[in-house]
Amino acid sequence: MIVTSMVDLAVDLAALRHNYRQLRGLCDPGVKFMAVVKADAYGHGLLPAARALAAEGADYLGVGSLEEGLSLRRAGLNLPVLLLLGILPEEAEPAVAAGLEAALFRQDVAQTLAAAAAAQGKKAGVHLKVDTGMGRLGLLPEEVLPFLEGLRAYPQLEVLGLISHLAVADQEDKSYTLRQLEQFTGLLKAARDRGWELPLSHIANSAALWELKDAHFALVRPGIMLYGSPPATDRLPPVLLQPVMSLTTRVLQVKRLPPGESISYGRTYTTPDWCDLAVLPIGYANGYSRLLSNRGEVLIRGRRAPIRGRVCMNLTMVEVSHLEDIQAGEPVVLLGEDRGERISGDDLAGWAQTISYEIYLALGNANPRRYLGA
Ligand SMILES: Cc1ncc(COP(=O)(O)O)c(C=O)c1O
Repeated sequence: MIVTSMVDLAVDLAALRHNYRQLRGLCDPGVKFMAVVKADAYGHGLLPAARALAAEGADYLGVGSLEEGLSLRRAGLNLPVLLLLGILPEEAEPAVAAGLEAALFRQDVAQTLAAAAAAQGKKAGVHLKVDTGMGRLGLLPEEVLPFLEGLRAYPQLEVLGLISHLAVADQEDKSYTLRQLEQFTGLLKAARDRGWELPLSHIANSAALWELKDAHFALVRPGIMLYGSPPATDRLPPVLLQPVMSLTTRVLQVKRLPPGESISYGRTYTTPDWCDLAVLPIGYANGYSRLLSNRGEVLIRGRRAPIRGRVCMNLTMVEVSHLEDIQAGEPVVLLGEDRGERISGDDLAGWAQTISYEIYLALGNANPRRYLGA
């Protein structure tokens, strides 16, 4: 991670807790809540986010890697943790020792997990992962019942539920999602008819938590809405989410260019007229995407200023001709609010042709994080 005092990335834990409470309020009281904190809590910092969510009442945490699960345990977080990507056979022993639950979809992993659990005199909690139409991780539907039958050989494994993931729950047209849900419900029933209880089955991401109560089952596992962004930007969520991450910098230099001058690498922007330019000490080394070149905007004194030319590794230029007498040292908001104007993760994502998830990860991973509202 680079360390520079020229860029300030703040993570508002009070906003994270607020979002948690809003989402929790959309679920029936009996439904458990797994806060998805994988990928370093989408760039917001695994441990601070997990601590805040656990203190607020999250029942479960969902992480990507064994390493993330172990660091939660080392930090003293003892609530149930699910390794959403499962484990590799060689990770069975530490996963069981730390009491981490794993998504399961491989026979060899079932075997090594059971062996590790037997050796440690414990049970290993697993969630059987089914691919109901995401085309990603998990057993195909027709493989589920035979796989479950094979698990009868491993009494050390506690099969807590079936789990699956939705491909287009964020779209307004729910027909494909409903087909996935039908597939999931059918498998659940078939497994239960064969004596598997599967008390903790789950499929709901943020989008399904928001728009499909039938998808809540025993547990919901949202990520992005906790961090303040809706999974769909073409309609408003039923709750008011607060942005969690913000990013500011300060003007490094102000200059005036005559008409016909080019700005930055590649000379992709030429001044049509006299141009007041602010040079900002931020670039793609800070996770500020080069795709924002000639497309993105920043806020200075609450007014929008457009990026001119290419975003560089450490520098970005914005036009301030429409603003009065901008000075070096003035604050610049790249993500967040200033005097009633806002640049959201979704704004940045739109300009950079990606999704807010990637924006938060890139910024959060590349800059030192300062925590508010702890
Ligand atoms: C398996 C799984 N469950 C839940 C989530 C949370 O999804 P979202 O951030 O859209 O709520 C993710 C995120 O990618 C995921 O991969």
